[in-house]
Amino acid sequence: MAPAPHRGMKRHPWGAMILWAASVIWTDNNGRRGVGRARTARPAGGGSVRGWCYVNLEEARLKVRALREQIEYHNYRYYVLDEPVISDAEYDRLMRELQTLEREFPELVTPDSPTQRVGGEPRPGFTTVRHLTPMLSLANAFDEESLRDFDRRVRELVGGEPVEYVVEPKIDGLAVSLYYENGLLVWGATRGDGEVGEDITPNLKTIRSIPLRLRASGVTRVEVRGEAYMPKAAFAELNAAREEAGEPPFANPRNAAAGSLRQLDPRVTASRQLNIYVYGLGLVEGRTPATHADALAWLREAGFRVNPGHRICRSVEEVLACCREWEGKRFDLPYVIDGMVIKVNSLDQQRRLGATLKSPRWAVAFKFPPEQAVTVIEDIIVRVGRTGVLTPTALFRPVRLAGTTVSRATLHNEDLIREKDVR
Ligand code: IVH
Repeated sequence: MAPAPHRGMKRHPWGAMILWAASVIWTDNNGRRGVGRARTARPAGGGSVRGWCYVNLEEARLKVRALREQIEYHNYRYYVLDEPVISDAEYDRLMRELQTLEREFPELVTPDSPTQRVGGEPRPGFTTVRHLTPMLSLANAFDEESLRDFDRRVRELVGGEPVEYVVEPKIDGLAVSLYYENGLLVWGATRGDGEVGEDITPNLKTIRSIPLRLRASGVTRVEVRGEAYMPKAAFAELNAAREEAGEPPFANPRNAAAGSLRQLDPRVTASRQLNIYVYGLGLVEGRTPATHADALAWLREAGFRVNPGHRICRSVEEVLACCREWEGKRFDLPYVIDGMVIKVNSLDQQRRLGATLKSPRWAVAFKFPPEQAVTVIEDIIVRVGRTGVLTPTALFRPVRLAGTTVSRATLHNEDLIREKDVR
């Protein structure tokens, strides 16, 4: 049966025709070459005709495969390594060529095609997935003494063996899990209650630094854990646009990231400039690393974005020095961090240390004090809510805070205001 003509195409004796925007050089079955604005059509008998060239399914399959490899390579250069090697225009040309071929040969469309990142139709609701290994949270240390306690406990529990730590920035975003089978992304989910999370696969696919197909082999099934976040600049841009449109701004980049990923319409997520740093593995079958640092190196080889700032430390003093160094530069980073995560490097020691119900004994979050800024209150206005509740709001000289400029705050918490002597 002849395929239905595409919308908006001209009819042609061969069948349906569409215009192909790119300039191409193509060789037809007789070895002739054509150059110019080619036209693509799909004749009733199968295959497709491009102006004076003929592409059958097998040729299209090869071309599609080559284009996908090229596009994902350039995604990796641009979004993971931050070292693009082609221009945006060249990238767009590759993408358009792939889109045209997939439109012509829908049977060649696969879920790992870069065209499938752009965000499909809105969904009626979220479904859930069960994590293959639970997503635990971290115990917190708010000062140096608690960090030293953590180190003492760890060394005691591993029977006095030497312990190495990996120290990483703690990105303030949304924890996600990405599940791959035989190298292909199967689903991506939120943490949820740690056992069951929300399936947000179409939304996560819009983050171009998440590989749809792993670049390294060696594992059959793997859960990759990481933090999806909104960079400070993207957050400021988004809030400015929202205020302009009369929409309420997001309170901080974490809320903005969470709101963007919990969208039923992945096209909204796609417009939000989210990114991700991955920091560990859940289930892993096949090649298993010996240390956390090896796991991070494998993740990088596999095509993920791993924070380049992680350090191996051989004593708690080194750990503390590293934490202080990051605390000093936290506000200069293009993303928000709310602390550092300290992890035992040896996975064998991690296994022996185990976990409590909620958090592993082999890791701790060293939390930075919340960001603070000093400003001057210029006015206090009283807002009347929909239910008639009066909320005093302070208008103050704009200050930079949590990646944005703040110029107002509600004064609804009377105790806090008295304590802080706000006037
Ligand atoms: S490790 C079992 N490493 O912090 C250990 N977490 O409760 C799992 N986070 O929401 C966490 N950066 O998503 C780890 N480098 C990092 C992290 C990190 C941010 C988040 C994590 C979770 C929270 C810890």
